[in-house]
Amino acid sequence: MQKLLFQLDTDAIPNSFDTVVAYDGGADHVVRIGGMTPDNVGRIVEGTVFTRAPANKKFTALFVTGSNIADGQALFDAVRTCFFGNFRVSMMLDSNGANTTAASAVAYIARHGDPAGKRAVILAGTGPVGQRAAVMLARLGASVLVTSRQQSRAAAACSAMEQRFGVKLEAAAAADAAATTACLDGAHIVLSTGAAGIQLLSEEQWAAHPTLEIVMDANATPPLGIGGIEMSDRGATKHGKICYGALGFGGLKLEVHRACVGRLFESNTLLLDAPEVFELASELVKSR
Ligand SMILES: NC(=O)c1ccc[n+]([C@@H]2O[C@H](COP(=O)([O-])OP(=O)(O)OC[C@H]3O[C@@H](n4cnc5c(N)ncnc54)[C@H](OP(=O)(O)O)[C@@H]3O)[C@@H](O)[C@H]2O)c1
Repeated sequence: MQKLLFQLDTDAIPNSFDTVVAYDGGADHVVRIGGMTPDNVGRIVEGTVFTRAPANKKFTALFVTGSNIADGQALFDAVRTCFFGNFRVSMMLDSNGANTTAASAVAYIARHGDPAGKRAVILAGTGPVGQRAAVMLARLGASVLVTSRQQSRAAAACSAMEQRFGVKLEAAAAADAAATTACLDGAHIVLSTGAAGIQLLSEEQWAAHPTLEIVMDANATPPLGIGGIEMSDRGATKHGKICYGALGFGGLKLEVHRACVGRLFESNTLLLDAPEVFELASELVKSR
């Protein structure tokens, strides 16, 4: 029985990254469909849940992606409402690599000590990766502050994550260096998840910081998000702090992504969002 993965992309043109990883993760055939919305996905879901016998339904799976996490979440939720009884297939949400990237970053952070009770700041955490990282750290018991250039955007992102995952997040504006420094007051962990090619924190701002323990940057496009960090840093000690660059945890991200695709074909009832993807990343990071 062929393993079929339907890549449901909320963008008009399905992305190629998720297609490549889908094959590398074990799919025999990837069906790529763009322009997916809650309104037009019903017929696609029906075709996946009604066609194969119960024992073979696990060989069909859905992968929800696209560049916009809010659109992806809406699509993921809409697909769930189409399932009933055993008429369901496994499904994963990973718009813009949000869950797999955030899970890998947070799994490495947690390897250096329990984040419970720590203060974590997610710089420019309003994007897909930052939102998911905030959720994962908060679920581990960290007190999490999400920054944005605009207070209202940070507040909206926090509110969306709080409603979806039942976590508590703080929002703050950090439109310049002074405001960013103020946000880092008392922080133990800083994770920069700003757009590619944007520096959000200079080396001077973190090098002599009195409480920071872990400095991590998700941006792999120069200039990097945090000055003084190399994109290949993986647990390097600089200025007495543990440092990670984007490539430092990018290998785990791809491993997690492939492993998640593989898991989708193990049963027809799996739903993979932030908590489940983080659980898998936590297992995989142990062997690194
Ligand atoms: N290492 C990996 O494996 C991996 C995988 C995927 C992605 N990434 C990287 O992870 C980072 C986060 O990805 P993402 O998709 O979540 O990011 P994103 O949505 O592109 O951007 C995140 C936030 O950056 C802020 N931003 C945008 N332009 C800015 C500017 N000119 N100045 C200051 N802030 C700006 C915005 O926040 P506000 O408008 O709210 O200020 C935006 O919400 C990116 O650098 C991406 O390349 C890494």
